[in-house]
Amino acid sequence: MPNVVVVGAQWGDEGKGKIVDLLTMDADVVVRFQGGNNAGHTLVVGGEKTVLHLIPAGILHPGKACVIGNGVVADPAVLVMEIDRLKAKGGMKDDGQLAISLDAHVIMPWHKAIDIAREQAAGQGKIGTTGRGIGPTYEDKVARRGVRVRDLLDEARLARKVKERLPAAREELKRLGATPDLDEAAIVKQYAEYGRRVARYATDVSLWLHRALKAGKSLLFEGAQGTMLDVDHGTYPFVTSSNTVAGNAVIGCGLGPRAVDYVLGISKAYSTRVGSGPYPSELSDETGERLRKIGNEFGATTGRPRRTGWLDALALRYAARVNGLDALAITKLDVLDGFEKVKIAVAYDVDGKRLDEMPSDPEQLERAKPVYEELPGWSEKVGHLRTWDDLPKLARSYLKRIEELTEVKVIGVSVGADRGETILRENPFRR
Ligand code: IMP
Ligand code: MG
Repeated sequence: MPNVVVVGAQWGDEGKGKIVDLLTMDADVVVRFQGGNNAGHTLVVGGEKTVLHLIPAGILHPGKACVIGNGVVADPAVLVMEIDRLKAKGGMKDDGQLAISLDAHVIMPWHKAIDIAREQAAGQGKIGTTGRGIGPTYEDKVARRGVRVRDLLDEARLARKVKERLPAAREELKRLGATPDLDEAAIVKQYAEYGRRVARYATDVSLWLHRALKAGKSLLFEGAQGTMLDVDHGTYPFVTSSNTVAGNAVIGCGLGPRAVDYVLGISKAYSTRVGSGPYPSELSDETGERLRKIGNEFGATTGRPRRTGWLDALALRYAARVNGLDALAITKLDVLDGFEKVKIAVAYDVDGKRLDEMPSDPEQLERAKPVYEELPGWSEKVGHLRTWDDLPKLARSYLKRIEELTEVKVIGVSVGADRGETILRENPFRR
């Protein structure tokens, strides 16, 4: 049985959750391997909306296992809240459906406070983080002073770790002009309580997945954020603090590189970005406003209006390279319905020089002016269409052009928010 990685090929919010939800039908286990509750998936099944930030989208399928790997940073308050909400709606009937790595790092109250205080202090130079404590938690992981899920399960150890870490956190917060409200005893008590709540899900995920593979199960790795937000390969420093690319899928859950058979990249039919950082094909005009309005481009996590623009073929080609994409799925095609013309950035002009590939220096990207190719739009609505051949000819030409520019085939198209509003030309699990 094949194992498939789904990653964002742009700046996040490509609609990965929807594609993961759909592909989950053919997988046995869904694995998250990086990021935390900075992510946000809005899923619509039969008209009912569910927003998830930490638990893999696959949880809505009874009988499918969802795994949070060691590479994820987990906010236990969010985990517990999502479990409670799912159960209140009659979902997640079997607790065996969810597993979280004992080695996943825990987002503690000081991480959130530091994230927010730093952004406030940075003013104009801010990253525009989600304020969920993601960066500071990964920093503590790499600095070897983090708190892991296993620490929540041992109150004495948790108390020791909190005691060791708090003084420096308080100092940093004071320096940033924040007034930290961090009570040591209260934190230990609350997080030990979270520990008791999550204990039944906490496990050795590497061993668990190894056994699942041996038993012939197939895995679906669910990436969060997108390629251009990768800490190594994105528009540094305007990135998230983890590796979002496909290579991290196995590191973030304790398997070897041969565990991946297929890499699927997700891209919108246009582009969006939340937060600061270079974005050459951004539209700050009426067309950008139209994309935001029709595409309902407001963050699932922070509610912020997303920046919008035309599709960037250089970014997609780059995503194909650094992820090793086998295929692309294009989402929100319906948002482009009725545009007289659609454009694709096919090159950049940087200081009068034409670039055909993504420059590796983000400062060059900051100065890049997109060179557009213009294609005729389609006037028909595509939302009700369910087969490739039914798509308007001009919509198919647009998709074909994406294939040519990226040298990656487009195997799926999403034409609406609901699970059913998807056209799959090829299923990565049934090749
Ligand atoms: P952080 O991940 O909260 O540290 O934020 C760092 C950058 O990544 C900011 O520009 C965020 O807007 C962006 N970001 C983080 N998570 C997501 C996501 O799930 N979708 C889109 N952008 C994200
Ligand atoms: Mg999102």
